[in-house]
Amino acid sequence: MTRKKLIAGNWKMNKTSSDAVSLARELVLSLGTQADVDVVICPPFTALEAVAGAIDGSLIKLGAQNMHFEPSGAFTGEISAPMLRALFATHVILGHSERRTLFGEGDELVNRKVLAALKHQLRPILCVGESLAEREAGQTLKIVQTQTERALEGVSREMAASVVVAYEPVWAIGTGKVATAEQAQEVHGFIRGLLTKLQGEAVAQRIRVLYGGSMKPANAAELLTQKDIDGGLIGGASLEARSFVELVRAAAAAS
Ligand code: PGA
Repeated sequence: MTRKKLIAGNWKMNKTSSDAVSLARELVLSLGTQADVDVVICPPFTALEAVAGAIDGSLIKLGAQNMHFEPSGAFTGEISAPMLRALFATHVILGHSERRTLFGEGDELVNRKVLAALKHQLRPILCVGESLAEREAGQTLKIVQTQTERALEGVSREMAASVVVAYEPVWAIGTGKVATAEQAQEVHGFIRGLLTKLQGEAVAQRIRVLYGGSMKPANAAELLTQKDIDGGLIGGASLEARSFVELVRAAAAAS
């Protein structure tokens, strides 16, 4: 089974709407017609609509970085799945470690968001990963298992194939410390086995499992050629067209 690779850019809290449009336009010029790799860009909420316009007609897809689980209501400062769909977003990052550690998001909340995203035809990019202390205590697989199982509670087999999982070791995010290809593949293989248990072999073989954490052109090829690494969730290196385009090319070469 070959899964099409996916490269997603997580722009985090960077770029005004006009800066975001400039970057999106550059990406359209280089990547707008390539179909070897799925490409998703996730600008901040304030730039979603403008970026949707800039990528319209290209093969680049739009994602958000978070959402609330209710479709509407008295939730000051929040954004819902139908609002994202109305801007032609197709993906949403959920359970990012920055949301978990800085904004107190727990597994139950992440689960509600995953279910809400799927209900509204948004593909969740579900982030899981251990901290440095957890890795050093030998708890990596246990943490990843708990986060994955809890986030996917109540997700049917039909829905599960739309989910993208991103393994992001917290100690590798924005630190320049990348997991070795062996370290990453060990966890990716474990996640694939877990997905097989939870959702059956056929569905588990279709779910893309991305690596995230200081992925850049220099280390991408080694990671992307691992058996169970189906792409990348890219922070820092997605903020510049040149490095992001190189990552997409590395994913194409590894396909
Ligand atoms: P990084 O971020 O590539 O800057 O390490 C990845 C992420 O947080 O998704």
